[in-house]
Amino acid sequence: MMKVIVTGAEGQLGRELRAASRGGAHNYVFTDVCSISREETRYLDITDTSAVNAFFAAEKPDVVVNCAAYTNVDKAEDDAAAADLLNRVAVGNIARAAMDCAATVIHISTDYVFGGDGRVPYREDDAKNPLGVYGRTKLAGEQELLESGCKAIIIRTAWLYSPYGKNFVRTMMSLMSSHPEVGVVADQVGSPTCAADLADVIYGIIERGKLGYTGVYHFTDAGVVSWFDFAREICRLGGWDCTVKPLRSSEFPSKVRRPHYSVLDKSKIIETFGVEVPYWKDSLSRCFQNMK
Ligand SMILES: NC(=O)c1ccc[n+]([C@@H]2O[C@H](COP(=O)([O-])OP(=O)(O)OC[C@H]3O[C@@H](n4cnc5c(N)ncnc54)[C@H](OP(=O)(O)O)[C@@H]3O)[C@@H](O)[C@H]2O)c1
Repeated sequence: MMKVIVTGAEGQLGRELRAASRGGAHNYVFTDVCSISREETRYLDITDTSAVNAFFAAEKPDVVVNCAAYTNVDKAEDDAAAADLLNRVAVGNIARAAMDCAATVIHISTDYVFGGDGRVPYREDDAKNPLGVYGRTKLAGEQELLESGCKAIIIRTAWLYSPYGKNFVRTMMSLMSSHPEVGVVADQVGSPTCAADLADVIYGIIERGKLGYTGVYHFTDAGVVSWFDFAREICRLGGWDCTVKPLRSSEFPSKVRRPHYSVLDKSKIIETFGVEVPYWKDSLSRCFQNMK
């Protein structure tokens, strides 16, 4: 039986990983700086180097899944030091502590490492050009892990949503149920990804013991849509009497430039781990039932 430490376990992905791993063969230890679910979560602040070292030395994990991150893309612009601490420095802490116990780190990164001026799905090694602090610090976190020499599987994902926390689906549900019209940008395209689908991928990698594949991989749900298309599907599923109006990015006030095209090529993760990629509309509809 393997010991698996999950950090950031109270976030969207962490909570879905907890659900996915229930009844599995291995021993999962869920950690975070907060406990908002009703389940047991142990306190671990991954920015605290000595706490991470002590926790890993005591638990001796075989696998560490890092679901913790500074994920507020707008706020990161004004809070670059905090984003850097969590997205880069803390990842270095995990990498070094994992090296000491020969654990494999499964780390999550983002489509925001790319500039978004592509026209075909980004492959893992394509040129990086993050447009803001969030993307820059996440890219620096990837580099910390890869340069540390520890065993690391880095999975970049995009447009994550779940029944938990702050995400586009929950924001739209709230707006559409209370407003006659919402404006949504129509000139940024990507692939909505249900956090439960990514959790299934991570769980599958651990269950099947496919841990010797250090490198970067891409995973999102299947399909390419704009935020406007995504919002229209949310509205259709919810049956709200709300008009969804297409906007240009320039009409939508934001501190940070976002990629216009952030579609990720998933061939490598499919070939390496044999994962199945659900269609985004099917996953959204499943997730929606849980949310309502
Ligand atoms: N959300 C997206 O659309 C998206 C897209 C692409 C990639 N990703 C990546 O996917 C991963 C999972 O994202 P998510 O949306 O599940 O994130 P999330 O919901 O923001 O969860 C992150 C969790 O980490 C916790 N945390 C904060 N500071 C910590 C610390 N010092 N030590 C330990 N835990 C800490 C947070 O607690 P608090 O809530 O109390 O801060 C939260 O519970 C991240 O790596 C993210 O960069 C996300």
